[in-house]
Amino acid sequence: MRRVLSVTSECVPLIKTGGLADVAGALPAGLAGQGWQMRTLLPAYPGLIKQAAAKTAVFTFDDLMGGPARVLAGTAGGVDVLLLDAPHLYDRPGGPYGNPTDFADNPLRFAALSSAAAQIAAEGLSDGWRPEVLHAHDWQAGLAPTYLAQLGCEDVATVMTVHNIAFQGLAPAAMLGTMGLPLSAYTSEGLEYWGQISTLKAGLVHADAITTVSPTYASELMRAEFGMGLEGVVAARADRLSGILNGIDMDVWNPQTDAQITPYSATSLKGKATNRKALMSEFGLSGLTGPLAIIVSRLTSQKGMDLVAATADQFVAAGGGLAILGSGDPLIEDQMRVLARNHPGKVGLRIGYDEALSHRMFGGGDVVLVPSRFEPCGLTQLYGLRYGTVPVVAATGGLADSVIHANTMAQSAGVATGFQFHPIDEMALAQCLRNVITLFSDKSGWTRLQKRGMKQALGWEASSAAYAALYESLIGEHRSAT
Ligand code: ADP
Ligand code: GLC
Repeated sequence: MRRVLSVTSECVPLIKTGGLADVAGALPAGLAGQGWQMRTLLPAYPGLIKQAAAKTAVFTFDDLMGGPARVLAGTAGGVDVLLLDAPHLYDRPGGPYGNPTDFADNPLRFAALSSAAAQIAAEGLSDGWRPEVLHAHDWQAGLAPTYLAQLGCEDVATVMTVHNIAFQGLAPAAMLGTMGLPLSAYTSEGLEYWGQISTLKAGLVHADAITTVSPTYASELMRAEFGMGLEGVVAARADRLSGILNGIDMDVWNPQTDAQITPYSATSLKGKATNRKALMSEFGLSGLTGPLAIIVSRLTSQKGMDLVAATADQFVAAGGGLAILGSGDPLIEDQMRVLARNHPGKVGLRIGYDEALSHRMFGGGDVVLVPSRFEPCGLTQLYGLRYGTVPVVAATGGLADSVIHANTMAQSAGVATGFQFHPIDEMALAQCLRNVITLFSDKSGWTRLQKRGMKQALGWEASSAAYAALYESLIGEHRSAT
């Protein structure tokens, strides 16, 4: 087996706040099918060592950014995990980043993760394992390629994956020394970003290759509307950039075996009707003549929830219903509460995070609504396809790449799988929802749309093959350079 070290701050089934965890947790199985053993380094947040039965110490640090640390090997959900046990940084309550506000020392906490990854890659673990590739995810792992270069290690290839460029890992320049970085790294060609350190920029500049989680987001990243100030940095490395669409875990998300729902399949959707009834009663909804739309989302400005609030009146008036599950920005949570209060029996809301309920929602919903202002990949539209819960999405990023819009041509060609709207504003969403309601009333047309979605290839096969090919090509480059 070839060897790759994945470096991440979240990984299913151990710890999750968003899609990064799903991807980090599913990628290893996909890559195993390509002949790659992926081991995943992440912080030992409280409880994780026990959960992963991680007992064997495979690396030790006398001092990792202010205290002793070690790496413990274990497994969780089939993922080979390496837990970075550094109590001074990670043994505290409050989620991986702190809650409700971020921990003040987050830059240091994740610089430590990146530094540990680089040391492991340079020296290898005590069990004899040493990676050929270091794969860093998001700003939390962004400094790993920089640290690796600092160690003078040239035989390990590096990949930086951007899951969301909105999070840039900013830290005061004064932290350079504490993070163990030389002043020479602090240049505009290096990790300096408007007078601060950006750990994501460090990764974008220093990694051998940059990937992001959909082809459309890859091209959007080079434009000012989406690059969030880093568009120039990305564009300068366009020849090193690619977009690889995420897959989903086809076993966890399988309407035929999902323990949360009455099972159904593309051959018979009967169980879905039962699930719909149950879901409506769970959310206190009744008397819908139109589609039941679900939303499972972080409630943040990225996710376009203001558009939902603005168009819900019309949607409900036309017979539609809404079941919303999410948490996030307190102001947006309040906006959703107002929406539910204004539409009793038609709009139901659960504030919180509930994995089991999310499964029941995909099982019972007619439509999943994803009106994001930007979306690097997005996973819920993929779950929607898998469950015959037709995705209605903003035409951006991975949403644009994974849903085929049901316009007249796509419908008559028999390829449509959902609905897209553009521009990403109230008017376009309202118009799109009118089209959804019209097609919903055509029972056989709607069923065709559902079944086509359910038959899409949504697993990790194609994407892991693309990652494996990228790793190979980078290793080839390293070999010919040395
Ligand atoms: P992002 O990572 O930007 O939040 P994604 O669509 O990539 O968006 O991934 C979100 C993941 O988190 C999905 O697996 C989704 O089902 C899940 N999720 C989001 N909010 C909730 C919630 N309130 N309860 C349960 N699952 C949620
Ligand atoms: C980020 C993005 C989301 C993507 C996920 C996994 O959280 O916001 O679009 O699906 O990462 O790559």
